[in-house]
Amino acid sequence: MDPALAYLNHGSFGATPVPVLAEQQRLRTAMERNPVGFLAHRLPELLDGVRAEVAAFLRADPAGLVFVDNATTGTQTVIAQARLGPGDEVVTTDHCYPAVLAQLRRSVEASGARLEVAEVALPAPGRAEVAEAVLSRLTERTRLLVVDHVASCSGLVFPVEEIVAECRRHGVPVLIDGAHAAGMLPVDLGRLGADFWTGNMHKWVCAPKASAALWVAPRWRDTLRPLVTSHGVADGFWPAFDWTGTRDPTALLAVPAALDFFDRPGWTAVREHNNELARQGAELVADRIGTSPPPADGLAAAMRLVPLPRPLSESDARALERRLLDLRVVVPVTYHGGWRWLRLSAQLYNTLSDFERLADSLGAGPVYLR
Ligand SMILES: Cc1ncc(COP(=O)(O)O)c(C=O)c1O
Repeated sequence: MDPALAYLNHGSFGATPVPVLAEQQRLRTAMERNPVGFLAHRLPELLDGVRAEVAAFLRADPAGLVFVDNATTGTQTVIAQARLGPGDEVVTTDHCYPAVLAQLRRSVEASGARLEVAEVALPAPGRAEVAEAVLSRLTERTRLLVVDHVASCSGLVFPVEEIVAECRRHGVPVLIDGAHAAGMLPVDLGRLGADFWTGNMHKWVCAPKASAALWVAPRWRDTLRPLVTSHGVADGFWPAFDWTGTRDPTALLAVPAALDFFDRPGWTAVREHNNELARQGAELVADRIGTSPPPADGLAAAMRLVPLPRPLSESDARALERRLLDLRVVVPVTYHGGWRWLRLSAQLYNTLSDFERLADSLGAGPVYLR
């Protein structure tokens, strides 16, 4: 991480620790010394080793765990195979990641189904109210519910346990977009009991980029297949996903090194550090610009929002991001519920001084805040 930056956007893309990159390079060297030996002979066994470690980390049955390049591919894999028909309904929320929303829109348009977007207002009132806002959109025509584990635009931690439990009672399949969840929250997929969960290892586990998991409940494993068909498609769930053509698998193979890296401080300590730093940082910045962060009440973790003090147009929001970037402060301006927000992320490489830099920059510039 460039020490000149106040880098408060781990949520979009974060830095990978040097020892993890070194492990990826070691694997790459091994691959290049004997590409056939590595890719054709060793890879299946290596992937099974990674699968065992990632499954243990997510408390998931390894039989249901496969790998994808990123959460976008994970959600698309499920949504593209949802078998929707005219009159069917799909439910999501107004926190849904734009790329996933685009996938849903394409899917319903192609099938004649309908998309129901549940509004979840900020500040979020509480777990039960958030769950109810989503669940109130279910009908007997609902064929799929797609909800974030942690939302991108808001950092909101959805009460996925309550949502999944209720969907199961109604027989509605649930896809959880866990792009931010692994590493930020203690994930227990065994207890959660969702139909599908996908999440990045390259965000809050800090593994190299293009490493992500897709977990699938037993009843879908015989039919769900990757978007790209290759040799193993007829051989079962794992073989179908393990090889989708030649690619560099070393990001994925370095995931255990990232898990080990954070095992040393301990995952609980890392989470507590990041959550508390994000909370303090949000208070500090909000205090300086005269607003207050929405109360979290267990619905926020290492990404927090600070409302901007007055409305900004889309182009002014992007101009504000660029102006801050010129001052070497990296932070996204997000939009939700008709308002613009600074979305602040905290990771081990951040300190409160990064948030001070942001607060100082907002106070100093020509900035659109006054
Ligand atoms: C909620 C959510 N879903 C999906 C994604 C897509 O992740 P990726 O770009 O790694 O596919 C993101 C990225 O930030 C996200 O925040």
